[in-house]
Amino acid sequence: MKKGLLKKVLATAMSMALVLSLSACAKKSEATGAKSDSTTPIVDKIKKSGKLVLGTSPDYPPYEFINGKNEIVGFDIEIAKELAKDLGVKLEIKDMKFDGLLAALQSGNVDIVLAGMTPTDERKQNVDFSKIYYTSLQGIVVRTEDKDKYNSLDALAGKKIGVQKGSIQEGLAKEQIKNADIKALGKVTDIMLELKNKKVDAIVVEKPVAEAYVSKNPDLSIPAVTVTQSEENGSAVAVKKGSSDLIEALNKSLDRIIKDKLVDKFVTEANEQVE
Ligand code: ARG
Repeated sequence: MKKGLLKKVLATAMSMALVLSLSACAKKSEATGAKSDSTTPIVDKIKKSGKLVLGTSPDYPPYEFINGKNEIVGFDIEIAKELAKDLGVKLEIKDMKFDGLLAALQSGNVDIVLAGMTPTDERKQNVDFSKIYYTSLQGIVVRTEDKDKYNSLDALAGKKIGVQKGSIQEGLAKEQIKNADIKALGKVTDIMLELKNKKVDAIVVEKPVAEAYVSKNPDLSIPAVTVTQSEENGSAVAVKKGSSDLIEALNKSLDRIIKDKLVDKFVTEANEQVE
């Protein structure tokens, strides 16, 4: 009992000392006006550990999905491999639910998130984003038999709409489909099953994802209507807030990846792998 208390007191004192010394460091560099160089803490930590830990939700072909060999593949994964290569470390991938990705960054469980993630203002309050590396539109998926019936957003009013929990599509569907009965699930693969089993009537996802699922499922189709966004919808890499050295390194890699037209190449290859 007493020992436990002593430990706690010691631990508190130690962490306070750490905070103090950290703030002393911060003050020092402020005073000298020293700029952070490429070897500031986060990049350094990743290089020392020898691995870059990626969090993703592999239910989103062609961005990230699980192939027939039970491997996580997709164009986000190929981009992440390039990012790891440029840092000189290997890539480790963690399969998570989309709505748990940002918390995993904050807790340090993963170093980066690539998950077709749109850098919204709300998310920017909790994490930092790289530049946008890919843009797309939104799409709707319905059962093929209903394709002609659901030819306007009004026709979808009051229907059961499936979305991924925590995705921007959850908000878009609520705003744009009147009286939508929203069903939000953790994994897009499960929502697609719900659609096939008539538990929901339509799903809102990014257009390339709608196309990927439809291409392999003749019972699913894309109707002549979609939800829209006011702003351009792009994907960016998310990192823990305050990781400016990592953002700088990632943006440099992304510049190269975009300049060499690797994103287009990875997207084409990922679409060929959808099964
Ligand atoms: N772009 C949307 C968002 O940021 C959906 C992304 C879903 N990604 C995934 N891997 N399931 O909210």
